[in-house]
Amino acid sequence: MLKKEKSDVKNPTRRDFLTTATGAVAGAGLVGACWPFIQSMNPTMDVLSKATTEVDLGVIKPGESKTVEWQGKPVFILHRTDKQIDEMRASNGGKDPIEDEKRVDVPNWLVVVGLCTHLGCVPSRKEEGWLCPCHGSVYDNSGRILKGPAPTNLERPPYQFLSESKILIGNNKV
Ligand code: FES
Repeated sequence: MLKKEKSDVKNPTRRDFLTTATGAVAGAGLVGACWPFIQSMNPTMDVLSKATTEVDLGVIKPGESKTVEWQGKPVFILHRTDKQIDEMRASNGGKDPIEDEKRVDVPNWLVVVGLCTHLGCVPSRKEEGWLCPCHGSVYDNSGRILKGPAPTNLERPPYQFLSESKILIGNNKV
């Protein structure tokens, strides 16, 4: 009997072939049936284009701030002057202390999400930083909280320099 089983393994029968073929067809059918579902989990081109925001820095003069939209949120981009950089490097901020060097990738450019970390209002631009109109939180030109109820500094979004005068806000690796 054992001898017969050995020979069966060496010489697959028509039944073995049909079993294997049926399994393969069923597997392919399952993948085919699931494909639309798998595809539906991929982001559409529309979503991908909104996931990142490309910004031309060339139009922002030294000392000026521009607000752009990224994923439905305002992002402040401040072209800092040498004087502003020196002022920011002279302190570590207020209640959420951190060195200015850790707040920027390039000293002249500050990029922060423009939502107050207290309750999410959009702070207004002042020469010395930003003032939240809702409850008076004050942020400096490094986006660090100086006073008011906001607990933390303005958030830094992910971004990268595409060139000296262009940044991409958001993570383009999906
Ligand atoms: S939301 Fe900005 S201080 Fe309250």
